[in-house]
Amino acid sequence: MRTARLALDPAFTVGPVPRRLFGSFVEHMGRCVYTGIFEPDHPSADEDGLRTDVLELTKEIGPTVVRYPGGNFVSGFEWEDSVGPRENRPRRIDRAWRSVETNQFGLAEFDSWARKVGTETMMAVNLGTRGLQEACDLLEYSNLDSGTKFADLRKAHGSKDPFDIKLWCLGNELDGPWQTGHKTAAEYGRLAAETGMAMRSIDPDIELVAVGSSSRSMPTFGDWEQTVLELSYHAVDYVSLHAYYQEHDGDAASFLASAVDMDLFIDQVVATADAVRAKGKHTKKINLSFDEWNVWYQSRPHHAPGVQPWDVAPRVIEDEYSITDAVVVGTLLNSLLRHADRVHIGAQAQLVNVIGLLRSEPGGEAWKQTIAHPFEQVRRLATGDVLQVVTTSDKYETAKFDAVDVVDASATYDEEFLTVFLANRDQEQPASVEVPLRAFDVDRVATAKVLAATEGQDRHTTNLEGDHSAVGLRALEDVTVTDGLATVVLPPLSWAVVQFRKG
Ligand code: AHR
Repeated sequence: MRTARLALDPAFTVGPVPRRLFGSFVEHMGRCVYTGIFEPDHPSADEDGLRTDVLELTKEIGPTVVRYPGGNFVSGFEWEDSVGPRENRPRRIDRAWRSVETNQFGLAEFDSWARKVGTETMMAVNLGTRGLQEACDLLEYSNLDSGTKFADLRKAHGSKDPFDIKLWCLGNELDGPWQTGHKTAAEYGRLAAETGMAMRSIDPDIELVAVGSSSRSMPTFGDWEQTVLELSYHAVDYVSLHAYYQEHDGDAASFLASAVDMDLFIDQVVATADAVRAKGKHTKKINLSFDEWNVWYQSRPHHAPGVQPWDVAPRVIEDEYSITDAVVVGTLLNSLLRHADRVHIGAQAQLVNVIGLLRSEPGGEAWKQTIAHPFEQVRRLATGDVLQVVTTSDKYETAKFDAVDVVDASATYDEEFLTVFLANRDQEQPASVEVPLRAFDVDRVATAKVLAATEGQDRHTTNLEGDHSAVGLRALEDVTVTDGLATVVLPPLSWAVVQFRKG
């Protein structure tokens, strides 16, 4: 048996749980939009062509904000193609994913989908092939009421009310050589500043995200954030981070410790942003938008067999997630919560089919992947304040990160519920975790759920088509409370949530 002990006190908080931390991402990529959220011929389609089976699952998972329309796609996107009568919308090549974009789903359709889900839109503008003017036109089309060219165009297109989008990304991954319109930090920093200021002059209430590094391993990481923020500090509110993790060569031990990298990445971006703040004598703080994160097996072929260049909605990176992946996703959510004082926005990438929380088949069924379970539970149960958690845990050796805690934890408290999110990274042994309750106004277990292999499963088990609920949550029986001390026993390789409340 492995052991760990948490130290927690209601007086030691990280900050309020930022509701925007539990976002997701819909990109015009592969089958995320077409046959994902939108499929007019599907038996479940509503009057807008939206798949109501996917819509209902999305509502259950409940992403609080959804980034749109890309991703690499946005760096070649001409938003005007995606509005107005559908029969007039052009078919365009999407260079990023070498597919054809039909534009049958566009801005108004996304707005209507987001309203049905009950989520906030986070819109990205194209700063790859386009610039300040087109970004301003899109903002005018989206947020101004009437009496100007693009606001009136929106009305003429049938959207009477403005979309009223508050959150805007100033481009996507422009630090990456793969990005259409890739830029140096100095080129991008100037463009972000100029575009941001022009957009604010149209709508002073918007919040702007500058492009940060596409991963911590980018050769420009650090320098990129420093230069971009030196040039755009006055114009932006957030800097973005992107990170994808995978298991390499069967090294599950290192993969399970991916949150160590995420913690470090966040700490280093905070340090860089704050150094620019000090040097520039700025008072405001730049916060972080972790607006692409997930497990993604990038070493596997991106396209499914048979996919041809310029297909419509091809099968691209339709990763099927296992129990191991779900445990890692649980630890990545812990990392985001641990940094809730500075990471105010999160967007798991992506919502459906493309490295998705959900999967759907054309004309067929839709279901939750394993990774949707920790996401949904954390979104539902993390409330009030995030607590500082000091974890004293047994350790295990990893090739990538040396010795790492076996137990990974985060916690929230809202005066009624103390909630702890736990992962046991040991693949063989259970872990016993002590949680002191005395300082809180709670004395019994309200909820205890675990995701782990059941009989006949192993760490690779997924929710394949046809057996959609093979991996899910079950009651965690082994939780006891004695004299203000809770003991939670986690099965090997598991993720769990335990909520405590007063009698
Ligand atoms: O989410 C998939 C892709 O990953 C996005 O298009 C891009 O921004 C990132 O590299």
